[in-house]
Amino acid sequence: MLQCKDIRSGYGHLPVLHGVDLEVSAGEVVAVLGRNGVGKTTLLKTLAGALALRSGRLDLDGEDVSRLVAHRRARAGIAHVPQGRGIFGRLTVEENLTVGTRAAGSRARKTVLDEVFSFFPVLRDRRGETAGNFSGGQQQQLAIARALCGAPKVLLLDEPSEGIQPNIVHEIGALIPKLAQQYGIAVLLVEQNLDLVAHAATRCLFMDKGRIVHAVPTSALSDENLLKNLLAL
Ligand SMILES: Nc1ncnc2c1ncn2[C@@H]1O[C@H](COP(=O)(O)OP(=O)(O)OP(=O)(O)O)[C@@H](O)[C@H]1O
Ligand SMILES: [Mg+2]
Repeated sequence: MLQCKDIRSGYGHLPVLHGVDLEVSAGEVVAVLGRNGVGKTTLLKTLAGALALRSGRLDLDGEDVSRLVAHRRARAGIAHVPQGRGIFGRLTVEENLTVGTRAAGSRARKTVLDEVFSFFPVLRDRRGETAGNFSGGQQQQLAIARALCGAPKVLLLDEPSEGIQPNIVHEIGALIPKLAQQYGIAVLLVEQNLDLVAHAATRCLFMDKGRIVHAVPTSALSDENLLKNLLAL
C-alpha cells in the first residue's frame, strides 16, 4: 500500500530526514516513536506532500506519487491529520467535514458523511455547531473524521493524543485499528502515548536523527528495559 524508499527532506539548509525506508500494508497500523525533534512530524509532512521530497521515492499501491503536490496526494488517497489538528475553528462540524470530502473526488462523497457520523456520534449531535468551541478531544475526533471523509487509503496521524483527556485517548485507541481494518486503510501513527500505541498499533518504528533505527512488534513494548533503551537512543 504505502512504501517509501530512502526519503530525504528538510527545511531550507537544514536536512532532517536522512533516508527513511518504511512500508505499511492495507489495514495495518504502524506507530512511529522517538524523542522530540527526531523528525516524526517532518516524516508525515513529507509523506503528505506538505514538505517536498529532496530525494527518494514514495509509492502508493505501486504507483510513484513522489512528485505529486499535497492536494494531489490527498486525491490519490493520502490523508494527513497534522499535529495540532488543523481544523477550521470558525466553521461548523458539517462544514469542516464537507471540506474533507473534496479529497474524495467522485470516489465517496455521497455516503461518506453518514458513515463517518456512525463512528463519531458526538459529531452528528453537534453537526451545526462551530468547531472552535469544542474540547481538544472533540476537535481531534473532528480532524480524524474530516480525514476519513476523503475516503483515504493511507491515514497519517500526528500525535492524536496530544492535549486530550484520557477517556478520549482510549476511544481513539480503540477506533484507529477498527477503521484500518474495516476500510483497509494503512495507518501511520506518530505518537508518544505508549498506552495508545499499545492499543492501536501492531508494529513500532523507532526514529532517531531522521532515520528509522529499530522496528519491533508492539508486544515488545512490554519489555521495559528494551523500551528504555529504544527511547533513549
Ligand atoms: N518549520 C520548520 N523550520 C525549520 N526547522 C524545523 C521546522 N519544523 C521542524 N524543524 C526542525 O526539524 C527537526 C525535526 O522536527 P520535527 O517537528 O519533525 O520533530 P518531531 O519528532 O515531530 O518532534 P516532536 O516530538 O517535538 O513533535 C527539529 O530539529 C526541528 O527543530
Ligand atoms: Mg512532531
